[in-house]
Amino acid sequence: MAIPKETVEQILQAAHIEEVVGEFVTLKKRGSNMWGNCPFHNEKTPSFSVNPARNIFKCFGCGKAGDSAKFLMEHEHYTYPEALHYLAKKYNIKIEEREQTAEELMLQSVREKMFNINEFADKYFVDTLWNTEEGKTIGLKYFRERGYFDPIIEKFHLGYCPEKRDAFTQYAKSNGYSEELLEQIGLSLKGNKGLYDRYHGRVMFPIHNLTGKVIGFGGRILTNDKKSPKYQNSPESEIYDKKNTLYGIYFAKSAISKQNECILVEGYFDVLRMHQIGIENVVASSGTSLTMEQIRLVKRYTKNITMLYDGDSAGIHAALRGTDMILSEGMNVRVVVLPPEHDPDTFGKDHSVEYVTNYLKDNAKDFVRFKTELLLKDAENDPIKRGEVVRDIVETISVVPDSIFRITYVKECSRLLDMPEQTLTNELNKLLRAKFKKSLGPEGESLPDTQTTTVVTPQQPDETLEDQLPAGYYQERELVKLLLMYGNKMITDERINEDGQKVYEQVSVAQMIIDDLKMDGFLFVNAVHRKVFDIFDQAIDEGRIPDDQYFVSHEDETIAQLAADLLSSQYKLDQWEKYGIFVKQEEDVLRATVLSSIYRYKDLIIAERRKAIEEELKTTENLEDQIILLKRKKDLDDIRMQLNKELGIVIAK
Ligand code: CTP
Ligand code: MN
Repeated sequence: MAIPKETVEQILQAAHIEEVVGEFVTLKKRGSNMWGNCPFHNEKTPSFSVNPARNIFKCFGCGKAGDSAKFLMEHEHYTYPEALHYLAKKYNIKIEEREQTAEELMLQSVREKMFNINEFADKYFVDTLWNTEEGKTIGLKYFRERGYFDPIIEKFHLGYCPEKRDAFTQYAKSNGYSEELLEQIGLSLKGNKGLYDRYHGRVMFPIHNLTGKVIGFGGRILTNDKKSPKYQNSPESEIYDKKNTLYGIYFAKSAISKQNECILVEGYFDVLRMHQIGIENVVASSGTSLTMEQIRLVKRYTKNITMLYDGDSAGIHAALRGTDMILSEGMNVRVVVLPPEHDPDTFGKDHSVEYVTNYLKDNAKDFVRFKTELLLKDAENDPIKRGEVVRDIVETISVVPDSIFRITYVKECSRLLDMPEQTLTNELNKLLRAKFKKSLGPEGESLPDTQTTTVVTPQQPDETLEDQLPAGYYQERELVKLLLMYGNKMITDERINEDGQKVYEQVSVAQMIIDDLKMDGFLFVNAVHRKVFDIFDQAIDEGRIPDDQYFVSHEDETIAQLAADLLSSQYKLDQWEKYGIFVKQEEDVLRATVLSSIYRYKDLIIAERRKAIEEELKTTENLEDQIILLKRKKDLDDIRMQLNKELGIVIAK
């Protein structure tokens, strides 16, 4: 495609990287950059940054970087000209293209041609629906009779394909589209008498990608003809990858992001209905079971998914399939089951938006709980089936990445299943241990189940003994808790380098804590705490950080006990509010908490050591010794000053 050089420059200058990226990734401003979860690799904490000043993006996790055009090429799989056209359209820049030569036409990428013919078909179907006799009396009438209003029909570009077997195919051919392309994209099918329309006699739903381009179609039959399927859908193509597509995402994405929730339904009409009554954060899986890719698509905008299913049992069981997968992505999944006679379409038709909203609110059930109750009902009193249910549920719980949630689920399921918590925990630990070993690869799997450690009597915390506990005991414990809970979480560490510039790097929470303490020679005093410290220290060297479950299931009873104790109480990440420090993001809260915990621990130890030095100074006559002591005291004060500075950075945010 021949775009003049000057126009290319003009386009790239006009494009604001944060606006371009912002269409696809939820960005939050922090410092001079904006941050979000990288769309190119799977991650739980944002390492994808956008620098508006330089007009570039860069992911510190996977290394992808570039300008607006590069982003679109990577993200939308556009060619360079496609990316430029997209940007030109977005920023109202006119591209004066010269007539394309035959050669250039041939070179035009297949993808571009496919987008092009889909846009052409979309226009044709919409035009046929609104402006032809057949379209109006059959297609439009159908939508209206089902209770859809014109604005929704227009917004979703609903259309109609005439009953005549090859009306569209002929029209497309007369407009220069090749039979080959028509077949490739799936708009036409080959029959005995030549090409005919895949969708003839159907109402049409165009399927849009995130940027609103038509990548495929679904067409619903209008008769009760049992011989042909109710829906005909586009086959996959260079531009239509079903596992990566959710119907309605283009129209729902900003509502999903704003409401921090995505409602998942099954069908085209379910999406339409919800939109019509004003609930816009809705997408459809289009009848297939959910894929990992679709979940990640949603995850760019929110971690909260509500699955809205038909009251019939097919719908409910569909909700169970694939949902473990959503949980394993760390998403919060809830399920709403509609009354048996309804699907979201009819439910929305028969009730007001207030009623629907309240129904969703009142009936949303946490997925693990939902699954447990449902399976239990199926199993009734059959003990063998019950055993299967327990295994099934424990398996589900084991995929939940967050240990706090796992513990909560165990508690809840123990109640629902009427089983001791410990039994479930044991089962869960077995599973998790197996998974952890597997994650270490072939070496891990051959590891013995236990680790050899020397047994040290733990210093049991005891309220009445508080005075006798070594200084900093509770601060140590707090740090151990952070290590266990968040040790393997990656966060963006912000440091000031020698040139006084801010630099960012990805480090694990464990490394942040261990390195920081080691640097100042502050090793844990308590024996068990020290063991945990040493395990992390070694793990960091080896480049793999064990997760909380490794400690909960640790062979050394004292470690396992400590881990269980610390992990079963909710961590108060909101302590910072108390100090009047305003933290915006989960990661900010975590970083602030880690730093403050390190600070408080060091501060206490320093105070303790200073006191000891001062005592010693009183009885030291020798000048040399006095100087050594004073020097040590000054070192401590320096550390403290550095701490205050670091804390200042946290507070200044
Ligand atoms: N579907 C499909 N092919 C079929 C049946 C269903 O692709 N033969 C997909 C469609 O995306 C459909 C969704 O699965 O929207 C849900 O199916 P269903 O509940 O049967 O359709 P509805 O959307 O409820 O359509 P209608 O209300 O018109 O029956
Ligand atoms: Mn329906």
